[in-house]
Amino acid sequence: MWLIRNIRTIWQVEYEARRSRVAGEAMRTLSALHNAWLLMVQEKIAAFGPMDTCPEVADAQVVDASGRFVLPCWCDSHTHLVFAAPREAEFVDRIHGLTYEAIAQRGGGILNSARRLRDTPEDVLLEAALERLREVQHYGTGAIEIKSGYGLSLDGELKMLRVIRALRRYTAMPIKATFLGAHALPAEYKHDREGYIRLIEAQMLPRIADEGLADYIDVFCEKNFFSPAETARILEAGARYNLKAKVHTNQFHSLGGIETCVAHGAISVDHLEVLTDAEIECLRHSHTLPVLLPSAPFFLNDHYPPARRILEAGLPVVLATDFNPGSSPSGKMPFVLSLACIKLRMTPEEAIHAATLNGASAMELSHTHGSIAVGKAANIILTKPVPSLAYLPYAFGTNWVERVWIGGQPV
Ligand code: NIG
Ligand code: FE
Repeated sequence: MWLIRNIRTIWQVEYEARRSRVAGEAMRTLSALHNAWLLMVQEKIAAFGPMDTCPEVADAQVVDASGRFVLPCWCDSHTHLVFAAPREAEFVDRIHGLTYEAIAQRGGGILNSARRLRDTPEDVLLEAALERLREVQHYGTGAIEIKSGYGLSLDGELKMLRVIRALRRYTAMPIKATFLGAHALPAEYKHDREGYIRLIEAQMLPRIADEGLADYIDVFCEKNFFSPAETARILEAGARYNLKAKVHTNQFHSLGGIETCVAHGAISVDHLEVLTDAEIECLRHSHTLPVLLPSAPFFLNDHYPPARRILEAGLPVVLATDFNPGSSPSGKMPFVLSLACIKLRMTPEEAIHAATLNGASAMELSHTHGSIAVGKAANIILTKPVPSLAYLPYAFGTNWVERVWIGGQPV
C-alpha cells in the first residue's frame, strides 16, 4: 500500500465519466487536481483527493511529493522491442546519403534484422528484450505493444512471439503482442510473393492462434513491401483467427492503405508521415485511431506526420515510440512527447493525452489504463520537482521522472 501526499498536481485525473479516447479540441485541456493525495492498494488506484481530505492510512508506505506531479504511465502502443542486434552501420550509411528505402532494397533494413534474429537463441533474445523493457519502465512506460516481424519464417515468428509472451512473467505491465509476419518479403521468397503470403495464411496464423501467441495482426503496407490488396488479404486471414488489425501504413507513400484498414475495422493505422486530406476524411468516418511515431522521422531525418491537420479534423492522435533497431532505436516516451511538441506542434496537453489515454485505447486498454481513476491500474509516474506541465516536453534532455509504480509496485 502506498500513499503519495502533497502532490502538487495530479494530471489526467478522471472522476466519473470515463472516456476511452480524447479527440480534436478536447485534447487541449488536461484534467488536473492540485494539492492532492493518492492511495494505491495492491495493484490498483484505490482513492485520491485534495489534501484537506487526506486520510491517515496505517501500514501505507508514505511518499511526500511536494513540488512534484503525478501522471499516469505512458501507454506505448507501437514497438518492435524484441530484436537481436542494433543496426548502427545503416545509420552511418544514411549519413553518407543512402535512404532507408535504398538500404532495404539492397537487402539491409528489416532483412538485416531477420538474418541476425535467425541466429539468436530464444533465451538471448529474451535477455536483451528484458533489458530494454526495464529501461523503458524507468522512463515511465506502463503498458506496451510489441510486434514480431523479424522472424519472417514460421520458426522465427514463433520464436519472437514466445519471447513476447515470456516477457509478461517479468513485469506487471500489460503487454500486447502483434503478429507482423508481413513486415518484409524474406530473401527466400524474393520471387514468390504468393508463396510467402500463403505461408502466413496456411502455416503461421494457425500455429500462432493455436498457441494464443498474438492479440493483433500488422502488415507493412508500403511500396516495395506489401500492397493494399495484399494487406487486405492478410488482414482477412488474421480476422479468421480473431486478430484485429494495427497496420504500418503511409510511412513513405500514400497507396490506399488507410482506406483498406478502415474498411477492415482496424484498431489503428500507424506512421502517417504521408497523409492526404481524403485519407483524413476517411479516418473521420471510422473508429480507427491514427498513431504517430515522431522518433522514426526524427531518426531517418524525414518529414513529420501532419498532427495539426489530424487534430483540426476533430480526430484523436496517439503517440508511440516505434522502438526498433532500424528507424527508432529508442523507447523513450518523454522524448516522443518533446518531438510531438517541437516537430508536430502539439501542445503539452495534447501530447500527454496522446501518450496516455489514447495510447491505452490503441491497445484496447483504456478501461484499465491511461488515466488516474479509482479502480484503474496503479501505473503512476512521479516527477521530480518541476516548474510547470510545459517544462516536461521542454526539458527534452533532462530525466524528470523520479519514480514509477507499475501495478502498485515501484520499479
Ligand atoms: O515502424 N516501417 C516498418 N517497420 C519499422 C521499422 C523496422 C526496421 O527498420 O527494422 C517502423 O519504422
Ligand atoms: Fe513500426
